[in-house]
Amino acid sequence: MSNIAIVGAGHVGVVYAAGLAELGHRVKVIDIDRRKVERLSKGSIWFYEPGLPELLERNLRRRRVSFTTSYAEGLARATFAFICVPTPTTDDGSLDDIYLRKAFDEIRKHKGRPAPIIVNKSTVPVGIGDALAREFANELTVVSNPEFLAEGRAVDDFFRPSRVVIGSRDRTAAEQVAELYAPLRAPVVFTDPATAELSKLASNAFLATKVSFANALSQISGAVGADGEKLGQVLSLDPRIGQGHLRPGLGFGGSCLPKDLAAVANLARRHSASADLFSAVAALNRGQQSRIVDLLKARLGELSGKRICILGASFKANTDDLRDSPALALARQLRELGAEVATFDPAANGALHTMARGWLSVARSAGGAALGADALVIATDWPEFASLDYTRIRQVMRGSIMVDARSIVRADSLRELGFEFYSFTNTEHSNGSTENGSSVPGTVHAL
Ligand code: UGA
Repeated sequence: MSNIAIVGAGHVGVVYAAGLAELGHRVKVIDIDRRKVERLSKGSIWFYEPGLPELLERNLRRRRVSFTTSYAEGLARATFAFICVPTPTTDDGSLDDIYLRKAFDEIRKHKGRPAPIIVNKSTVPVGIGDALAREFANELTVVSNPEFLAEGRAVDDFFRPSRVVIGSRDRTAAEQVAELYAPLRAPVVFTDPATAELSKLASNAFLATKVSFANALSQISGAVGADGEKLGQVLSLDPRIGQGHLRPGLGFGGSCLPKDLAAVANLARRHSASADLFSAVAALNRGQQSRIVDLLKARLGELSGKRICILGASFKANTDDLRDSPALALARQLRELGAEVATFDPAANGALHTMARGWLSVARSAGGAALGADALVIATDWPEFASLDYTRIRQVMRGSIMVDARSIVRADSLRELGFEFYSFTNTEHSNGSTENGSSVPGTVHAL
């Protein structure tokens, strides 16, 4: 059992706090936000993460985890100090290390004796681990240990990591950190700090590339009448290609893939390497939303005054995170063209109310969002959107256009209900227009 301090009570910090406590460690989380600390101390988590409330609650009861605003209190007996602070993107795509440096300064000021090993989990600018180790030489030992938690399944990812990456010049410290993860029986890669830091950016840039590859391919498969679902299955079964991130859709979003892709592109440019691949991946991603806007313009004509229902606002299912959400990017584009946009999200409605402020109407149910709509777009892959009462939804809509931008409903059953149905994975080709420009209920089209 170790005493662990965690700096930063965000998505990553809270999952690590509850997870490490479950493994038997005593964890103190430090955050400057007093309200967050008060809420978390009572087991109340302000973001949606399946399984996390129960895990935190259990470890609060066991008194293995606590929260504080005081660095001195949090660090008093710590053997390890995990840094889980944000590193926002700057205008040129690089990562801002301001909060990271602040955390280092505070740890240096308030550390106990002996000083804790610093375990850096934040996604950081490549090279900073070595730079900080030099800066704080003889005072602090720094280990780079990037996190690979995906939102919506972060608890599972904590307990079943695909790999643990530990980058440090200090082998003893690296092995002490590895020991913390020993019960999880994951493959451990020991390396230098720069490799560990780049591995985080590279993993997310690769996942983004896979998604854009799938999206680029969906344009071809739609055009030639190939079955996009089966195509994904065939690719995934090749272990060299691997499963996951091959589903075409509205594009990747969230706080990680777009940001880390931009950071890799920025690194490439700064070191006179080619950033062409990364730029193409980003451009393809933006294009996915335009494909839907173009379709709606082709089918509905002038969008001004048209009512569009967007089901799902979070950047993916099982999270209430709206950051860089493709669903909201689509909503904004439609709004700029004069459309009225109504949305409903199973988990993010609360956050939506705060940010929508008039430009977007937020309904309490999918049916409410669909009321009077000329077209409906499924923008987030929430499983419950697969089994909505689409008979009722069809009745309350004004038009019959449905775009399943996440391929989660069965095209044939929707067609039977009289929808003019579009998706990125369907076999029948259409550019969205008919000869006389009239709507074509009961049809299925590739986007
Ligand atoms: C991602 C990585 O998957 C994690 O390993 C990493 O730790 C995390 O970023 C991070 O850097 O902290 P996350 O952003 O939660 O996790 O989401 P993903 O599940 O990777 O999905 C990202 C986006 O890609 C979503 O918008 C999703 O809808 C989209 N996506 C994903 C697709 O469009 N198609 C797919 O087949 C898969």
